[in-house]
Parts: sequence; C-alpha cells; structure tokens
Amino acid sequence: MIPGPYRNIALIGFMGSGKSTLAGQLAERLGWDVADSDAEVEREAGKPIPRIFLEDGEAAFRELEERAVARLSERMDAVIALGGGAITSPITRERLHDGSFTVLLDVSVQTAWRRIEAEAEDRPLAVEARGFADLYEQRRPLYHAAADALVDAEQLEGGEPLLVPLSRPAALSELPRLVGARRAALIADRAVLRLVGAPVEPLVTVRLPVGEAAKTVAVARQAWTRLADLGLERGDVVVGLGGGAATDAAGFVAATYQRGVPWIAAPTSLVGMVDAAIGGKTGIDLPGAKNYVGAFHPAEWVVADPGLLETLPVREWACGFAEVIKTGLLAGGRLWEMVQAWEPGRGSTEQRLELIRRCAAYKAHVVASDPREQGMRAVLNLGHSIGHAIEAAAGFTSIAHGEAVAVGLLPALWLSGKVAGLDPAVEGDVRALLRMHELPTGFAGVDAAAVREALRRDKKSVEGRVRFVLLEQVGKPVWGVDIDDELIDLAIGRALAG
Ligand SMILES: NC(=O)c1ccc[n+]([C@@H]2O[C@H](COP(=O)([O-])OP(=O)(O)OC[C@H]3O[C@@H](n4cnc5c(N)ncnc54)[C@H](O)[C@@H]3O)[C@@H](O)[C@H]2O)c1
Ligand SMILES: [Zn+2]
Repeated sequence: MIPGPYRNIALIGFMGSGKSTLAGQLAERLGWDVADSDAEVEREAGKPIPRIFLEDGEAAFRELEERAVARLSERMDAVIALGGGAITSPITRERLHDGSFTVLLDVSVQTAWRRIEAEAEDRPLAVEARGFADLYEQRRPLYHAAADALVDAEQLEGGEPLLVPLSRPAALSELPRLVGARRAALIADRAVLRLVGAPVEPLVTVRLPVGEAAKTVAVARQAWTRLADLGLERGDVVVGLGGGAATDAAGFVAATYQRGVPWIAAPTSLVGMVDAAIGGKTGIDLPGAKNYVGAFHPAEWVVADPGLLETLPVREWACGFAEVIKTGLLAGGRLWEMVQAWEPGRGSTEQRLELIRRCAAYKAHVVASDPREQGMRAVLNLGHSIGHAIEAAAGFTSIAHGEAVAVGLLPALWLSGKVAGLDPAVEGDVRALLRMHELPTGFAGVDAAAVREALRRDKKSVEGRVRFVLLEQVGKPVWGVDIDDELIDLAIGRALAG
C-alpha cells in the first residue's frame, strides 16, 4: 500500500477522451490494477450496455453505474476508468472526492466526435453530432468541478503529458505516485520556491540559484552530490520546479544522475509551460555557450498550474507571450485565433489554461514526430535564427530571449513573404500584436556585422549556412530553407531598424 490520502487514480472525461487507453498505460507503469466502470456494470447486469439502455432505460443504467463506482473506488492501488456520464451522480462525485486522485482527460468536442465515429463500438448516447455536442457542454462543468487535475487528452499521442492541477492542493503532493515513486527530490529555483511553495513533500530540496545561473556545471555537481548523499535511487523521482532555467537544470541532473532517473517538470513561468518543460531537451550552459551540454530526457509528466503565473514579472510574461505568438503562427487554427484576440494582460485562469494547453499540445505533437531534432522539430525555431543571433551579438545581456524572438519573428515573416509566398499582411499584423503585448519590434543595440557573424556560428547551420524556418501560410511552416546572403542582410537591417 502506498501512503497518501488517495487510494487510487480515477480517470474521468467525455466519450472518446481515451480513458481506457490511458488507464491501461498508467496501470502498467505503476504496477497497479486497472478497472473500468462500464465493464463492471456489464458484469453485474450480465448484458452489454446498449441492451441495458434499451431494456431497462438510462436511469437503471445510472443506478448500476453508481454502485459499480462505489465498489471500485474502495479499491487500493488501481487505475479506474469511469464511464463518461458517471460524474452526473452526486454520490459518485462525493466518493471520488473522498478517496481518488481524480484526473480529467480533457478533449475537444471535435476530437471526441472524430474518435467516436471512427470506433465501431455501440454508444447509446452518441448517435448524432448535435446531441453529442450538447451533452458535452452540459457535462464539462461537472468534470471540471470533480477533477483534481486535468490532462490534455489531445496531446496523449505526443510527448510528455501535460497535467494541470485544478482543485485540491493536496493533489500536488501526490505527484510521485503518478510515476510509481515513493520519494521525490525537489530541485527548485530558490525564488520560486519562496513564492509558490513546494508541490511535494520532498526527501531533499536542492535550491537552485535564480534563473540562468542555475545552468552551470558547479550547480549540477552540487545537486548530484546532494542526491547521492541522501541515497536517491532509480525508483525515486526528481521534481524540477521553476522557470525554464530551473527545469532545464533539474531535468539535466535527472538525466545524468545514476545514468538517468525519472523526473516531473513543474514549470512556473509562461516560457516553461508552453515551451521549455516540453520536448525532452534538458541542459546546462558553458561559459559563453548556452545549452552546450545536455541530454534528451523527457519528463514523465509536465505539471503546469496557470494560477502561478499571477506572480510572474511583467517582462517574463511578455517573453513567454513571444513564444506563444510564435506557436500560434506555426499552429494556425484555433490557437492563432486565440492569440490574435488576446487582450493585453494575462487573461482569466480559464483562458490561460486553454492557451497553455494548446501551445503545449502543439509542441508535444511536433516533438513526438521528431524527438531528436533531425527534421520537422526545426519549425520550432521560427524567428529564432535572426533572433538568437541578435541575442548572441548582444552578449545575452541587454535583450532577453523572448524579446529577441519577438524581434526575430518580423524578419522571418518578411522573408516568408519574399520567398515562401506568405501574405505580406501577416508581418504587419504580428508587428501590431507585438506592440500591444509590450514586446520590441526591433533592436538597435548591436551592429549588423556582429549579427551576421553570430548567424554564421548558429548551432543549427548546415555546412556553414544557416537554414531558415519560414511560413507559406499561418499554420504552414517550411524548414531548412537556404536564403541568399543579400536578402538575409536586408532582413537583418530591418530587424535592427525596428
Ligand atoms: N529545453 C527546452 O526545450 C527549452 C526551450 C525554451 C527555453 N529553454 C530555456 O529556458 C530558460 C528560460 O526560461 P524562463 O524564461 O522561464 O526563465 P527563468 O527560468 O530564468 O525564469 C525567469 C524568471 O522568472 C522567475 N519566475 C519563474 N516563475 C515564477 C513565478 N511563477 N512567479 C514569479 N517569478 C517566477 C524566475 O525566478 C526567474 O527570475 C532558458 O535557460 C532557456 O535556455 C529551454
Ligand atoms: Zn525560444
């Protein structure tokens, strides 16, 4: 038996959210039993669910389901997938609250319907799209109210699953249980730790210097030593808490300590939630060479609490928003609509949640198709070639990374208009968007020759020539584009002029 206030993990969510699949995967990882309320109902009734609906009606089914959940929620160390409508019962909701770590698999109505349609299975409540959508809207608030945490179900086929804590703070202390670990080592940005507190009761807390200063060999060495002194083992877990610098450093320590222990990323900055904590890249810096030492070591879970962003300094929020704009341009669709309509400021928790989920899901999807950055993952560098060169030319001091990305997006879009057929209006739209979100649209603090030189030394260049990511349309990136030097010079000139 594993100590803690919860006996088991319950998965709730709409039809088509993938509860049974995830329940199986989680149970296997944890070495727990797996259970399913629909199967339990069928076993007790001695007939399949469509027949129960047909012969006895929905009310009779709900009663059977309530009893099934009551029995299952007494189980210890089990992952329980609940039928989509189970949480309509107040009794069931209470039972979950009392004994289960309840995770909502959140899925869009479109994805849910697509998955249901593709299944041959007989679902009495999924007969036509309109009724399906109404039911979805009715149940959504119930799911949110009943859940301790939310997982983006759209993202499950991708990289690290994104888990968003929703209600009970105690749920966070259950993090180690999610990976089947008993003990956790918390590796955290010391300023963030003071502000937000520890998400877990750790065996050891390693306090990192604030921000980029965490990403050094000396700090990693200190962390390895602390873990070794305390006897952290492979069956334990590292939890990395803080902005992207802290999760990069903690992930790197986890990747290298005893040749790799599992870790959970708990990003607390916008950059961390939409970018740094997702995708498996961990690392530290060498003097003058950012991210030169590292490992691909994806977190088991990425736990992002959008509520924490309230305390993020204004400039850090803006830097994160530059990456959000980049992601919106790459993903297009609903995410780009959201980004364009975003009012200056941080939005409501609900809006932030959707924004982060969609950005994280996009990145996870790209990473899943190219985990080791051999091809398509390059698209994530939109705006980063010239942006990063400006940052490097400025010696990584006077302009922040996100600001440099903002500045770099504009020449990338201008070049896209010149050689990839992008509507030139997009550059103007993005310029206005950057201004609205207090991001720079140019940087005069360096000279063109230094930027050109930094571009030549770009880690991602091929045979000494930098390859660009451009957009054919919003939502349609191309990568590996070789561009004439004259055009590159013009683009750099524009970025420096603003
Ligand atoms: N691994 C990747 O794929 C990847 C991708 C992008 C960026 N990164 C890395 O991420 C780092 C940048 O991340 P960042 O912008 O989060 O920087 P950061 O980690 O330096 O955090 C920025 C500042 O915000 C503070 N902070 C963080 N969360 C806070 C909160 N909730 N309330 C108040 N203050 C808070 C931190 O203490 C710090 O001072 C860089 O090192 C970069 O290389 C990695
Ligand atoms: Zn970036």
